[in-house]
Amino acid sequence: MDKLIIKGGMPLIGKIKVSNAKNATLPILAACLLTDKPCQINQVPMLQDIKTMIGLLKALGVQVNFKNSTVDICAGHNMTLEAPYDIVRKMRASYYVLGPLLARFHKAKVYLPGGCSIGPRPIDLHIKGMESLGAQMNIEHGFIDAQTDKLQGANILLEGNFGPSVGATANVMMAATLAQGTTTIIGAALEPEIVDLGNFLKAMGAQIQGLGSSQISITGVKQLNGTEWTPIPDRIEAGTFACVAVASQGIIEIENCEPKHLEAVVLTLKEMSCSITHAENSIIVKTNGRPKPVSITTAPYPGFPTDLQAQFMAALTIADGTSHITEKIFKSRFLHALELNRMGADIAIDDNKAIINGKEKLSGAKVMASDLRASAALVIAGLCAEGETEISRIYHLDRGYESLEQKLTGLGAKIERVASRN
Ligand code: EPZ
Repeated sequence: MDKLIIKGGMPLIGKIKVSNAKNATLPILAACLLTDKPCQINQVPMLQDIKTMIGLLKALGVQVNFKNSTVDICAGHNMTLEAPYDIVRKMRASYYVLGPLLARFHKAKVYLPGGCSIGPRPIDLHIKGMESLGAQMNIEHGFIDAQTDKLQGANILLEGNFGPSVGATANVMMAATLAQGTTTIIGAALEPEIVDLGNFLKAMGAQIQGLGSSQISITGVKQLNGTEWTPIPDRIEAGTFACVAVASQGIIEIENCEPKHLEAVVLTLKEMSCSITHAENSIIVKTNGRPKPVSITTAPYPGFPTDLQAQFMAALTIADGTSHITEKIFKSRFLHALELNRMGADIAIDDNKAIINGKEKLSGAKVMASDLRASAALVIAGLCAEGETEISRIYHLDRGYESLEQKLTGLGAKIERVASRN
């Protein structure tokens, strides 16, 4: 297993380019199952989760060619309708094949995704959505066996206890594109990745209205066509680089980002005393000494994203005062806090709340990554800590950040990947 060695403590300055969004690309790749015509997805990030999704599609019988950041994909007629456990267990987003398979082939067998280190991740809303469209969903022996004679449009309330579900909105929207009649999702997710998926489906010929609002209507069509698409830039990667600027007290121009997807993040950065300059496809984050402390509550889009909670916590460990973070989406997503404390941070966790007493400095230490965004938080902490930080289990990082060490090296970071036997 590889490790990252970081020698921190210096301001990082320069330009860094964001890749396109993993969380938009994953459902878009699954949506290609909805047609037997070829699709081409451009500027796809080379990430482990993307390779897992491609592996899953290939296991289903889809022809996929991933070369030079372009995915050529064609889901013909000779398909296997079972998503194998060995692939599903690696990535929760594997359940994105459920909606498209049911819509086009009226049948799907998908192993249940397990738990994960960010807390319980139920799939009741996915099941409710498919049942509302007329699918029979049998759950036994650890898999969902779904079938239907035909999917029929319906009004579906998808909001759960923690607000709208990104995954369930995507799955139901994909399934409804080929259902008979009109489906209205009430309590739909507003995330830009959902809008991007919806626009991709529209480019395939789907009839969808209300994208970006909490009510999305989909009128089923008989078939969809192939199309070509470039997913949106990754707003979470952009936010991660903003935290690198804050923690290292540097100046970073973040290229290939969509400022309007980052409004809550930019407002928070300004409260932390950063100066932000917007251009059409980039933002410049300039820090002015140690950040000011802030209070953050995670929320569905357009609120502050849970996927940036860990990275902001890392940046706030050196704030000039006490910050508060309340995690409302995945209530126990705090494993990074204990590792940050090993680097000299002062973070106390009480249920879904974190209190971060800012320190002047962190000090490098050996730490272990527990999930994708927690890994990014440790990298940020390592970049601002004095001395050497060694981060193990960085395979989590490779699931969602493309060429992170190379990109950070371009800003002057001293960061190196080393192979390790344990
Ligand atoms: C997506 O996960 C993202 N994953 C996550 O990104 C992100 O953290 C999350 O949305 C929230 O923004 C992908 O896009 C692949 P949800 P998803 O369904 O769709 C509850 C990352 O780091 N819920 O919107 O699985 C759920 O427990 C990650 O890139 C139910 O109760 O999240 C949570 O509290 C990890 N029942 C809330 O809804 C359900 O059936 C939101 O989850 C489904 C979800």
